[in-house]
Formats: sequence, structure tokens, C-alpha cells
Amino acid sequence: MPKHTKYAAKQPDAAGFIHYTPEEDKVWQDLALQQQPRVNRLMADAFLEGQRKLDLPMHRVPQCVEVSETLTDLTGWKVEPVPALIGFSQFFEMLSKRCFPAASFIRSREDFDYIEEPDIFHEIYGHTPLLTNPHFAKFSQKIGEIGLQCEKSDYSWLIRLYWFTVEFGLMREEGEIKALGSGLASSPGELAHSVHEPTVVRKEFDVIDILRTPYRIDINQPIYFVLDSVEQLLEAIERDLLADIKDAQRLGLHAPTYEPKKKAG
Ligand SMILES: [Fe+2]
Repeated sequence: MPKHTKYAAKQPDAAGFIHYTPEEDKVWQDLALQQQPRVNRLMADAFLEGQRKLDLPMHRVPQCVEVSETLTDLTGWKVEPVPALIGFSQFFEMLSKRCFPAASFIRSREDFDYIEEPDIFHEIYGHTPLLTNPHFAKFSQKIGEIGLQCEKSDYSWLIRLYWFTVEFGLMREEGEIKALGSGLASSPGELAHSVHEPTVVRKEFDVIDILRTPYRIDINQPIYFVLDSVEQLLEAIERDLLADIKDAQRLGLHAPTYEPKKKAG
């Protein structure tokens, strides 16, 4: 997660509604209309099915309260607005309670194609379709529960399991690679890259391997992990993930395949 943001959180009123300006609604509409044809072509069925169930508005920013109504009926989850950036301990605690923390601001036009920190387009358009899926819903909750049990120094290890599945996972469907993760669904640039770019490495889903794989948040990923089915997430849930983190630490991080991030200034 980035440590700084130029964006301020938008506060909900007493009824839980967030008031977006016409320009902010227009940014949502333009993003959603631009992204949807690519999503239809490149995203996995589990995501598309979630979109159909939610039937999100395309012409305005959806409200967390209205999305929560459908989600709660389907999987017991809800979406709650939070400040743009929250710490890992709050993040894990909310996931453990089936509450998805959503940054409430929407990007400005100058960040239309790329924004490093999550905004409401990423949170709702990208994340909520997968939260309608019972396997993803359970898996996300489990990550939260493990986060509450592990040491702070283990957070960066555990979060890789979330990153390479919920955020940037791929899926094999009838022999074809499809995108699955929320970070891909909401990214105009990275969605096609993840599926088509010949130079990226697409590895089989493997919990220990994932825990050992470093990543950078501000580049198109050079490595993705491919699920054969959403049921593989249930196998991951059954594992002793705290022991897996210790095993991964013993084995050590893989060497990064990307350039280190340059320090600002
Ligand atoms: Fe995300």
C-alpha cells in the first residue's frame, strides 16, 4: 500500500450516503463504460457472474449501503467507507468481520488510467463482484482471521496471499487464461497485460510459492498465479496458514524479477 495520498476521504451522511459531484459520477461512468467491454472479454466467469448478481449502476458512483444490501443477502458481506489509506491491522480486522473497507474518493481525470492507491472504482467495481462468490467471501474472511492471529512482522508475508489471488489472480477456464483479481478488473492498462503479455510469468497456484514472491504495487506485475478453479481457495483455507508463513520465512523470499523502486527526491 502507498503511504501517502493526495486524496481526501469523502464522508457519508447520517444515512450512510456519500454525496458525489456530477463530475465524480461522470468519472465513474467513463471508467465503467471504458472498462466493461474488456472485462467481458478478459475476466473469468466468477467475476462476471458477480457483476450480474450486483447489477451495479454504470452512470454514477454506487453507494456502499446499496451494494451492501445485495452482498449481505448473498454472502453476509458488507462494504464500509474508510479513509483513503488504512493500516493492515484495521484491514485484517474488518475482513475477519466480513466487512470490506472501501476508500470512498474517486480518482480525478488526471489519474484516469492509473492510480496507485485504491479508489472507490477499484473497491466497488473491482472487489465487490468477487465478494458475491462464496469461496472468495470465505477466503477473504480467512485472510482477515489469520491477520489477527499473526505477528505484525508477518503482515507483509500474509498480504502476498491476498495480493496474488484477490487482487491480481488469474484463472484457467477451459484451457484459456482469464483475469480474476480485482486489481485487474479495475485497471485499464493491466487487465490485457495480465492475460496476453508474453513476457510475464504465469505460475501455478501454490500457497508457499506465493508467500515467498515479492511484488511492487506501482508496476504491471511481472508474475501472476493461476487458479484452476475457485475451489482451490477452499483448499488454501483448510491449510495451517500460520505454519505456512513460518515455512515461507524459513525458505526465504524469492529474488525480485523487477527493478527496485527509486527513492523519491
Ligand atoms: Fe484492492
